Amino acid sequence: MAHLDVVDSRTGKSYQIPIDNGYIRAVDIGKINSLDGDCEQDTKNGPRILRGLRILDTGYQNTACVESSITFIDGHKGIIRYRDLEIQELFHNYVYEDVMHLLIWGHLPSQEEKDHVRQGMAKAMNPPDSVIKVISAFPRDAETMPMMLAGMSAFAAADEIVCATRHTQKAMFQGRLEVADAALVRTIGYLASTMALIYCHKNDKGFTLPEPSKSLLGNLLWMMGVSQENSKVEECLNKLWILYADHEITNSTAAVLHAGSTLIDPVSAVTAGVICGYGPLHGGAIDLAYEALATIGIPERVPYFIEGVKRGKGRLFGYGHRIYKTRDPRLSLIEELMSRYKEEVEANPLIQVSLAIDKYASQDPYFIERNLKANADLMGCFLYTAMGFDPEMITAITIVSRCPGTLAHWRESLTQPVKLWRPLQKYVGPQLN
Ligand code: ACO
Repeated sequence: MAHLDVVDSRTGKSYQIPIDNGYIRAVDIGKINSLDGDCEQDTKNGPRILRGLRILDTGYQNTACVESSITFIDGHKGIIRYRDLEIQELFHNYVYEDVMHLLIWGHLPSQEEKDHVRQGMAKAMNPPDSVIKVISAFPRDAETMPMMLAGMSAFAAADEIVCATRHTQKAMFQGRLEVADAALVRTIGYLASTMALIYCHKNDKGFTLPEPSKSLLGNLLWMMGVSQENSKVEECLNKLWILYADHEITNSTAAVLHAGSTLIDPVSAVTAGVICGYGPLHGGAIDLAYEALATIGIPERVPYFIEGVKRGKGRLFGYGHRIYKTRDPRLSLIEELMSRYKEEVEANPLIQVSLAIDKYASQDPYFIERNLKANADLMGCFLYTAMGFDPEMITAITIVSRCPGTLAHWRESLTQPVKLWRPLQKYVGPQLN
C-alpha cells in the first residue's frame, strides 16, 4: 500500500502513514507522538485525551469526515454525478422524483416504489392542527426561516416515533432501515408541508390537502395552490430541483450528519440542516445575491458595486465556491432552463444586472486570481421569480429540494458504525500549572 514516510524532527522517530486512495487517516497522524514511548493517553490530565499530533483544519478546508457513495463532485473538472449517473443525463432524461429515489435508495424507482413513497409523503404532508396553529400564529410578514423551524418543531412534537427516539436505550434507526425509511419519508413530507403552509399563510390563502397520487413536488405546489394556476411551474421545478437535490457534504448536510451522529431523529437532524441552509455564506446567499441585485438596480451600476466589493465593502454573493474552481456545472443547465422560459425570465429586469455582474467579474483580475466564478445561486433565483415566487421564499424552497439529499446521507450513515461527531480545538488560551 502507498504510504507517507514521516520523520518527526522532535524525536527523530519514523512513521509510515498509509495512503488509501488519496486519503490518510487523522488517527494515524495521532500516533505521531513527541513523548517517550507510544503513550497515546495523558493520564495526568484525565483519560481519553490523545496526546499525539493533531490536525488543525479551521473550516474543514481539507478534511473528509465521512465515506460516501452518493454524490461525486470534481470541482476542478466541473463534474457532478449522483450515484453513477452524470447530472446532465439526469437533468435531460428524468424528473426530480426519480433523482430523489436514486439518491436515497441507490437506484431509479419502479412505478410501484414511487407510488409507495408518494403515499407515505402525502400522508405526512397532511398537517395536524398543532402545526397549522403554530404557523398561523406568526405575523404574515414574519421571516420565513423562524417559521420553518417552528413548523418542523410542531411536526416533531406530533410524531410519536420521533419523540420516542430520545427515550430508547437502543438506537431507533441505526441498522433498522425500514424504520429509518418510514421516518425519512415523513421528514421530507413535514418539511414540504411546512413550506406550503408558510406560503399560504404569508399570502393569506387557505391550503389544499395533499393527494396520495401526487409526487412530493406535485403535492407541495398543489397544497400551495400554485399548480392549479400554472402547470409550467411543476415542469420547471422538476428539472431545477435535480440540480439542487444533493451536493455531497455541504455545510447543511454536515449539520444533518453532525446532529444525526447523536442518534437523534431525522426531523430534528434536518432542522439543524435548515438553520445552516439559511446562513448567508451558504443557501442564504440566494437572498443576499438577490438583494444586492435589487440594490444595484441597473446594469450600469455594476462596475461601481464590484469595485466596492474589491475594496472590502462586502462579498459578491452568488460568486465563489469552496469546491468549484471552474464554472459550476449546474450553471449551464440552469441557463438551458432559462432559455426554455426566456420570456418569463426576462420579465424580471434584474436578470440584466446579474448577467452584467458575471460579465464584469469574470474578466476582472481580482476574481480571476482567486478562481472565483459565478455559482448556481447567482442565476437559479431567476427561474423561481419567473415561476411567480416571491424572492424571499426562494431559499426556503431550495432547502426543501435539498432535504432528500441530506437524508440520503443520513440513511447512509445508519449503515456505518455509530461514531459521535466531536471535533477538537487547538487551545490557545493561558495554561495554568
Ligand atoms: N466576493 C468577494 N471576494 C470573495 C468572494 C466573493 N463572493 N468569495 C471569496 N472571496 C475572496 C476572499 O475574500 C478571499 O480573498 P483573500 O485571499 O484576498 O483573503 C479569497 O476569495 C478566498 O475566499 P475564502 O472565503 O477563503 O474562500 P472559501 O472557499 O472559504 O469561500 C464561499 C467559499 C464561502 C462560498 C465564498 O466564495 C463566498 O463567501 N461566496 C459568497 C457567498 C455565496 O455565494 N455562497 C453560496 C455558495 S453556494 C452554496 O452554498 C449554496
